[in-house]
Amino acid sequence: MYKNIHAAVVGSINMDIILNMERVPEAGENVLGTDYGYTCGGKGANQAIGLARLGAKTKMIGRVASDANGRRLLDNLCENGIDISGVSENGSQTGLAAIILDGEGRNRIVVYEGANAEIDADEAADAITDGLDLLLVQFETDEKVVAACVKRAVEKGIMTVIDCGPAKQFSLESMQGATIISPNESETKALTGIFPETEKQILEASKILSERSKAEYVVLKLGERGCSAWNGSELKLFPALPAKVVDTTAAGDCFTAALALEYLRSGDISSACMLANKAGSIAVSRMGAQSSMPTDKELFSSGK
Ligand code: RIB
Repeated sequence: MYKNIHAAVVGSINMDIILNMERVPEAGENVLGTDYGYTCGGKGANQAIGLARLGAKTKMIGRVASDANGRRLLDNLCENGIDISGVSENGSQTGLAAIILDGEGRNRIVVYEGANAEIDADEAADAITDGLDLLLVQFETDEKVVAACVKRAVEKGIMTVIDCGPAKQFSLESMQGATIISPNESETKALTGIFPETEKQILEASKILSERSKAEYVVLKLGERGCSAWNGSELKLFPALPAKVVDTTAAGDCFTAALALEYLRSGDISSACMLANKAGSIAVSRMGAQSSMPTDKELFSSGK
C-alpha cells in the first residue's frame, strides 16, 4: 500500500530499559519488579520502524554514540530495512530511556537524551533531500533541530508531520507550515494550557495549535478515547477501537506513522485518523516499543 512512499524521520534513537511491576513505587518506597528487558526505542526510531513496517522506504536522521547501545540500535534499524545514512555516530553517549510499567500497562519514562541532544540542526536539515515524500519530526530533540527540519521540508514541498512528544513548550511559531501537527493529551496541555477533556476543550486547544503552527490539520491523540481532527473549520472525533491494554509505550509513535502514511496515500484525514486509531489499538495490545508496531499485513488484515 505504501511501498512507493519515501519517508524520513528526524528524531531520537534510544535504548529502552523496561522494568515491569505490579504497581510503581511512591517516593522513598521499594517495590519488587516482575521482569525487565532492553529494547530498541526512541520516538524518532520508533516512528521510523512504524513507517518501515507499513512498507514505506524510510530514512532515519539522528545521532547515536559509537558505543554498544548505539551499534545495537543501528543494527536494528538496518534489520528493519531503514536507511541509516542520516545517522551520525559521533555522539557522546547513546540516548537511554528507563521505562517503568505497572500491572495495567501504564508507563512512566525517564529519558537521558545524550547524543539526541547533540544533533546538529543544519546537518539534519541537509539530510532532507529531494525525492522525499514525507518527513516526521518529534520533540525528543532540540527545538532548533525540529524548526530547521520543518522549514527545509516545507520549502521543498515535502509533507511534514509534527508529533509533539514528549510534552515540551516548544515554539510552534518557529515550525510553521506542516501538514499535520499531532500532540497527545499531556502534550496539548503543555503547549496550550488546556487539557483536552471535553469537546469544547478539544476545540479550543485545536484552534490555538492551528493558529500557532499554521498546520493544515491538528490531530489530537486522546488515548483510550481515540483522536480528533481539526481542519480550521470543522472538528471531527474518531473513537478508539476496543483493546486489551498490555503496554502503551510507543502507541503514539505507531499512531503517527500510520496517520502520516494513510493521509499521504489518500488525502483523506478521516480515513487516516481511523487507520491510526487501529494501528494504536494493535500497539497497546502488545509489549514493547518497536516490537509492538504492526506490519501493513497485520494492520489491514486485523479483524477490528
Ligand atoms: O514513545 C516511546 C518512546 O519514548 C520510548 O521508546 C522511549 O525511548 C521514549 O523516548
